[in-house]
Amino acid sequence: MKLQIASLGILVLLGSSLIAEEPEQTERLSTFMRHKLSHSGEILEGLTTENLEQVARNAQALSLLSLESQWKVFQTPEYNRRSIEFRREVDALRAAAKDGNLDGATLYYVKATMSCVECHKYVRNTPLPR
Ligand code: HEC
Repeated sequence: MKLQIASLGILVLLGSSLIAEEPEQTERLSTFMRHKLSHSGEILEGLTTENLEQVARNAQALSLLSLESQWKVFQTPEYNRRSIEFRREVDALRAAAKDGNLDGATLYYVKATMSCVECHKYVRNTPLPR
């Protein structure tokens, strides 16, 4: 019985390693991408509670995420351009937060959020290169 369970376990492991590669990759990408959402929420919290240190820290995290290889799912000029634009906005957001400029930081937060939505419009119409 123990042996059967063990061999079943091995079969399951073998099977999943053979078929799960693609869903696993998708899951990893999804986890990576969802970090943007939590940083974005943290920024909103920082803006509304006037915790500009929290704003600056999370804006920097977004900027760094946009430089990672996992971010670069598409190698198209438009995706690059949108990524650069997004990074410029979160960098300006961080700078405004560091200057203690709450209104400026809020403005850049709105701009960066519009870039999220714009890039997602583009991404939705472009098949992932898998
Ligand atoms: C330059 C393009 C670009 C920008 C800017 C961008 N994203 Fe994304 N985002 C993507 C791509 C590419 C994916 C993965 C697409 C897919 O899974 O089909 C993604 C996926 C996501 C997902 C879905 C993750 C999942 O699978 O559950 C969320 C949530 C998300 N992004 C949030 C944000 C937020 C919040 C911002 C702004 C702070 C943002 N994104 C800015 C390109 C972008």
